[in-house]
Amino acid sequence: MVSKKKYGLETSAIRDGSVRSHFNEHSEALYLTSSFVFNNAREAALRFSGDEAGMVYSRYTNPNLSMFEERLASLEGGEVCVSTASGMSAILGVAMSLLEPGDEIVASKNLFGATKQLFSGLLTKFGIKTTYINASDLNDWEEGITRRTKMFFLETPSNPLTEVADIAEISKLAKSHNVLLVVDNCFCTPALQKPILLGADIVIHSATKYLDGQGRVMGGAIVGRREVIEKPLVSFLRSAGATLSPFNAWVLFKGLETLKVRMDAHSESALKIAQWLMQHQKVKAVYYPWLDNHPQNKLAKAQQSAGGGIVSFEVKGGKEDAWKVIDNLQIVSITANLGDTRTTITHPGTTTHGRLSEEDRLESGITDGLIRLAVGLETVEDLQDDLDFALTR
Ligand SMILES: Cc1ncc(COP(=O)(O)O)c(C=O)c1O
Repeated sequence: MVSKKKYGLETSAIRDGSVRSHFNEHSEALYLTSSFVFNNAREAALRFSGDEAGMVYSRYTNPNLSMFEERLASLEGGEVCVSTASGMSAILGVAMSLLEPGDEIVASKNLFGATKQLFSGLLTKFGIKTTYINASDLNDWEEGITRRTKMFFLETPSNPLTEVADIAEISKLAKSHNVLLVVDNCFCTPALQKPILLGADIVIHSATKYLDGQGRVMGGAIVGRREVIEKPLVSFLRSAGATLSPFNAWVLFKGLETLKVRMDAHSESALKIAQWLMQHQKVKAVYYPWLDNHPQNKLAKAQQSAGGGIVSFEVKGGKEDAWKVIDNLQIVSITANLGDTRTTITHPGTTTHGRLSEEDRLESGITDGLIRLAVGLETVEDLQDDLDFALTR
């Protein structure tokens, strides 16, 4: 599971982690089995105790999971990867296995709604407090630190407003206070940004999004240094059972093979659409890191190789106006997922961030007129026509 780092990203995404059975299949086999057979009771005992390497039970280990984990670790430049049933279980696993009651998290206030719910709701029940700050302001991170702070957590670009945070600078601050820096790399993926190479300790993924890339399966992953994540997370998953299914791991493993071409194509189309939306008379504001007027445009261009597929924009008016635009679309799908070949659209204020209080929502910039577009791989002109029809009708 150690990253080899000897190939280019595209080669690693296609070749790393592959294991062939004795049939010598070219496309990897699917190991749909709940458990593995031992030759004798002694072998079973040794495998259970971990004194002998090998498969035991698919809640602990499975060849499809190992293949996906090795490939993703290699792409992110991390030593090991632990896969999980979803992005949320990856975040829960990191918190539950690396934090203790009384510990504190300093987190970006611009986080995915469910992550904020998890931090402000469930984790507080276990005595873990979160302080929210402006991720793009280094002073805010410093001011958020107390002697109990154990973890920094951020998304860059953030969901849905694409706020970009300086991973290298935040990581220096984290290291100087002995704090772990966790980065949710869902929007960029390692095809566009490698937080570990910029100093992050742990990378989180909702593999459900771009790693799959076609909206088929749920999955999550945690990548980092072996000594930091492997034992605590494997032990958490073994007890808590939030394990990735072998079938989903197989789909994700194959999804990684086209990650780079997909991310580049998503980014190219998203930039065209963001620039086009900027000129549209019905649009009040556009949020996309590659636009010159994005507040962290320079940083984004230094830290990422392209802007990614997410464009958020605010229509003139309020919720009813935003909903009308969404309802008038013919091609774009109204759905909560993102990172699909199909362009998807959501009204964050009443869906992904709908469980937050109005105060929290507005503090994060989630206004009633805000719409999140996850630009897919359809013909750009068709998407523009669809959006134009919806906006002007
Ligand atoms: C940035 C980000 N992180 C985490 C998650 C959670 O992932 P999952 O839905 O796979 O649990 C999402 C889901 O939309 C997300 O957008």
